[in-house]
Parts: sequence; structure tokens; C-alpha cells
Amino acid sequence: MSKKINVAVLCGGQSAEHEISLQSANNIVSALNTQKYDIQVIGIDKSGSWHKLNPNNFLVNADDPKKIHFIKDNNQIFYSPNYYNKQTINCSNYEPNPSIDIVIPALHGPNGEDGTIQGLFQLAGLPVLGCGVLSSAMCMDKDITKKILTNKNIPVCDHIIARKNSEQNPNFTEAAKQLGSTIFVKPANMGSSVGVSKVTNELEFNTALNEAFKFDNKVLIEKGIEGRELEIAVLGNLNPKTSIIGEVAPTLEFYSYEAKYINSDGAHLIIPAEISQSIKNEVADLAKKAFLALECRGLARCDFFLTHENKLYINELNTFPGFTNISQYPMLWEKSGLSNSQLMDELIGLALQG
Ligand SMILES: Nc1ncnc2c1ncn2[C@@H]1O[C@H](COP(=O)(O)OP(=O)(O)O)[C@@H](O)[C@H]1O
Ligand SMILES: [Mg+2]
Repeated sequence: MSKKINVAVLCGGQSAEHEISLQSANNIVSALNTQKYDIQVIGIDKSGSWHKLNPNNFLVNADDPKKIHFIKDNNQIFYSPNYYNKQTINCSNYEPNPSIDIVIPALHGPNGEDGTIQGLFQLAGLPVLGCGVLSSAMCMDKDITKKILTNKNIPVCDHIIARKNSEQNPNFTEAAKQLGSTIFVKPANMGSSVGVSKVTNELEFNTALNEAFKFDNKVLIEKGIEGRELEIAVLGNLNPKTSIIGEVAPTLEFYSYEAKYINSDGAHLIIPAEISQSIKNEVADLAKKAFLALECRGLARCDFFLTHENKLYINELNTFPGFTNISQYPMLWEKSGLSNSQLMDELIGLALQG
């Protein structure tokens, strides 16, 4: 039998999506076929330190998104590009850990999904599963994403940018004049609905801006779209394929962090979405175009709004979408006939294509 591939799964991280990342990593590690892969798990704690974890048992409260955390022993490690050739180093004895063939950055949000960690491994010449530096960075920033998509005539909803401590930021009346009176305020670089608010008046608007500025210095003030939310999974490199389409129907005011991860009745997932064949074709076509326009590789989940007039807008692309038990990316593929284990094989194959 051929040599196994050494896979390092990175999880945790310093972003507000630390806990989601741990749930994603848990499912990714379970999906990796141990006949084919030797698995290392590296946990990044909230202070940014890296720890070598036991791949067979690295989580406490794995099913509770509020209490989940990884088991830290004293096995702190550091990663030094090109030092000892593709190895992580155990800090306690400065012994190299087994070398790595591919990194799976099961990290969401800033410093994980935004190109920074991808850059670290690029320096080391190590393949990273999924999008590279540029596409990760562009998709993480919702303002830049929209600029690239608009340039390709891919429809996105209107927005205005606000900057922390700027005198130029619009007030609610000015924003509403341009965007209508239902407005979403969100950090440019975040995910899992962290810092996202729906507002309809000046007071809520000001509170929402303050909240969003806790997570980023750049904030989007966006036209609220009334309609349905559709999601599609994209897989591939230069010739990507798409999954069947899912619909997320939040039961709360919108698809908030609570609706996503805390309240189990917060949203209904309808797979496949009940939409016409022509809308399905349009979603798949726009998702592939957006994936290529943003230079994505490997994977991305592309999220849409569908208005009552059947107009589609791309809301965002997630370059390392959730792999939690309730996450759509793996679920959409599973319902398209690709098991989690086959999905990981395909993703690793795509990353190793170079
Ligand atoms: N412009 C908008 N119109 C309507 N709903 C929106 C809009 N922007 C965000 N939302 C709601 O907020 C949720 C989270 O916003 P999103 O931009 O997807 O941020 P995140 O990256 O945190 O998922 C969306 O799934 C949707 O329910
Ligand atoms: Mg979203």
C-alpha cells in the first residue's frame, strides 16, 4: 500500500468563530479516512498559541456550541516555515513533529479564512486545502467581494461603507435615502452573523454601527433584501462543479448567530430548495462565475438572496464554510451523493494538484 498522506488539521483560532471552527474540525477529522491519511490536529487558542492535540480525543463538550473547547496539555508547538522542512516543532523539547503534506485550515473568520494563515503555509511551500491568499482575502472582505462581482456584472445588493472614527459616515436618514429604510449593518470582515444587525431607525442604526465596529474598522451599511436565502456548494479548481441548492428559512428576524448555532429552531433548512429549474440554473451559473471571478480554489459556499420578483443577488462567498453538524456545505454535497469522506478526498486531491 502506498504511503499515507500526512494531514494537519488546524482549528480554533483567535476569531469570534473559534467555537464553530472546533465543531467543523471535529467533523473533518471524523470524515478523513485513516487508511489514507495520518492525521495531526493543531489547536490555536484564543491567545494565538498553537497546541498539538490528540486527534482521537481533542474536544470537551463537542456538541455544545457555547461550552465546546479543546483539550490543552503542555504540548505547545510553533510552526516555522522551512525549518526542519515542513514540520511543526514541539516547544517543550524542540523536537520536530511528523512532517506535513497538506494543511486543512478548518478556521473561520479573520486570521483563518482571510488569507493570513494561507500565506504562512505558502511561505513554507506547503499545500493548503481550499482557497489561497488572494481569494481568501477578497472573499473575507464583503466590500471587496462586491466590487469584484459588480465588475463581472454579477448582481449584489447596494451598500455604503462606514469607517471607524470617520467624520464621513452617513447617519440613518442619509443611508435610508439611498438604501431604503430596512438596513443591514455588518463588519466587512467577519462571519457566522457576528456583529450583524437589521435596523429600521436612527437609534438601532447607531447601536448597530457601534456593535459592528467592535469586530472591524470597516463596516457595510447594506440595503435590506426581502426574500429567500439560497445556498449552493462549489467544488473544484478551474472547472468547478456545484451541488444541489439549499434554502435557509430563518424563524427569527434573520439568520443571526443565534439562529445558526444556538437556537435549534432558529432556522429551517430545506434541501433541495423548492425553486424553478430556471432559478436553479441561474444560481449554479452565477455561483461558478463568482467562484472564478474571485480566484477561488477547492471550495466555497455561495449564498444568495432571491426576491419575490425572482431576482437573484449574491450575498457572499465563504471560502472555508462551516463543517458543523448543521452546516450546509457538507450537507449539500451529501444530498448530492458525495459523502463527507469522499468530499475530503476530493478536496485534498484538488489541493495537491498544485
Ligand atoms: N442585505 C441583506 N438583506 C437581507 N438580509 C440580510 C442582508 N445582509 C445580511 N442579511 C441577513 O443576515 C445574515 C448574515 O449576514 P451575512 O452577510 O451573510 O454575514 P455572515 O458572513 O456573518 O454570514 C444573512 O444570512 C441574512 O439572514
Ligand atoms: Mg452569511
